[in-house]
Amino acid sequence: MQNPTKNLKKTANESKAETTLMMLPSDANPKGNVFGGVILKNVDLIAGIVAKRHANQSNVVTASIDRMTFIKPIFIGNSLILEARLNYVKRSSMEIEVNIFAEDLDYNIRVHAGRAYVTTVSIDKYGKSMEVPQLLLETEDDKRRFKEGEARMMSRLKEAGKL
Ligand SMILES: CC(C)(COP(=O)(O)OP(=O)(O)OC[C@H]1O[C@@H](n2cnc3c(N)ncnc32)[C@H](O)[C@@H]1OP(=O)(O)O)[C@@H](O)C(=O)NCCC(=O)NCCS
Repeated sequence: MQNPTKNLKKTANESKAETTLMMLPSDANPKGNVFGGVILKNVDLIAGIVAKRHANQSNVVTASIDRMTFIKPIFIGNSLILEARLNYVKRSSMEIEVNIFAEDLDYNIRVHAGRAYVTTVSIDKYGKSMEVPQLLLETEDDKRRFKEGEARMMSRLKEAGKL
């Protein structure tokens, strides 16, 4: 079967995503701190949306999430804001950057609470990796992100023993 994405290029703007979620008592420990696992789940979800928007018909799975540091706490009643975009596309793999913000809704204060780099891979119905559209770099920022994403991808593949 011919690969429909061959020679196709898409911009990062076409797939970027943002979400805002209210943090509830069920998301947090007894002192009100939102669980890292809740944040991670939503990071994984939004990265999957970005990857799927870019890859379209194929299935996308998470291959890795780089070490994640939670810089600031997020509390019950805060909104969790996630901004996600593609930095780098290899062949079937994609690096998605997710920035995490906590918003104090009482005072309209938004703080950067963390960042994650998620690698997703496009696969066919047999689980075999499948090429995705190349990333069309429109701006100097796109080019810088691509270069830095490529360097990170090489080191994560080395770490995983895949290079
Ligand atoms: C991700 C997965 C498909 C890769 O399988 P694989 O046998 O290594 O596949 P390939 O050798 O064909 O590699 C496919 C791509 O994955 C990339 N890759 C594989 N392991 C990786 C890792 N640990 N980190 C980053 N990229 C990785 C390869 O570099 C390659 O990229 P490219 O096509 O852009 O060059 C496979 O490991 C898998 O199915 N894992 C489980 C995924 C999952 O269940 N996630 C949670 C639910 S979504």
